[in-house]
Amino acid sequence: MKERRSIRAFTQEPVPDDAIQMILEAGRWCQSASNKQPWRFIVVKDAELIKKLCKAATYGNFIDKASVVIAIVANKKTAPKWYIYDTSMVSHQMCLMAWALGIGTCWIGAMDRDKAGTLLGLSSHEFLTTILPLGYPASIPPPTSRKKLDEIISYK
Ligand SMILES: Cc1cc2nc3c(=O)[nH]c(=O)nc-3n(C[C@H](O)[C@H](O)[C@H](O)COP(=O)(O)O)c2cc1C
Repeated sequence: MKERRSIRAFTQEPVPDDAIQMILEAGRWCQSASNKQPWRFIVVKDAELIKKLCKAATYGNFIDKASVVIAIVANKKTAPKWYIYDTSMVSHQMCLMAWALGIGTCWIGAMDRDKAGTLLGLSSHEFLTTILPLGYPASIPPPTSRKKLDEIISYK
């Protein structure tokens, strides 16, 4: 967990299907409130669609260098109170599995969700939690800073 970084530069080496499968499995096995599993995942390999998604991202102009993007889609009807929590955990679980396989990801949160949702064919009861570009890191950045434990912990 301490080694993981958000990766924003990828090599051209394709991500093998068995690795994608393991990342999807990590998402599938995520916990969720009342085990509702209010999610589905869209694996995007179409380079043209990835380019269009890249344009919909606010801080994601590197997405088009990824050979695969996984969209994590929440079902608002299935878990109206919990869908963001549940699918955020899916995303992190996928990020950690990818990292364990030597594959970089970056959570894309800032995007035009209407545009990206239309590109992906989402329904009105669905929410696009994130799109995760996947690829082998072209470079691994140094760690970003973290608050010190004594700044964020109290005991009662
Ligand atoms: C909810 C969320 C939304 C994020 N949105 C973006 C984004 O739109 N674009 C981006 O480049 N990084 C995004 N990030 C990545 C963060 O910037 C990154 O996790 C943070 O700077 C810490 O760096 P690290 O992941 O390398 O530890 C997002 C991360 C989270 C958890």
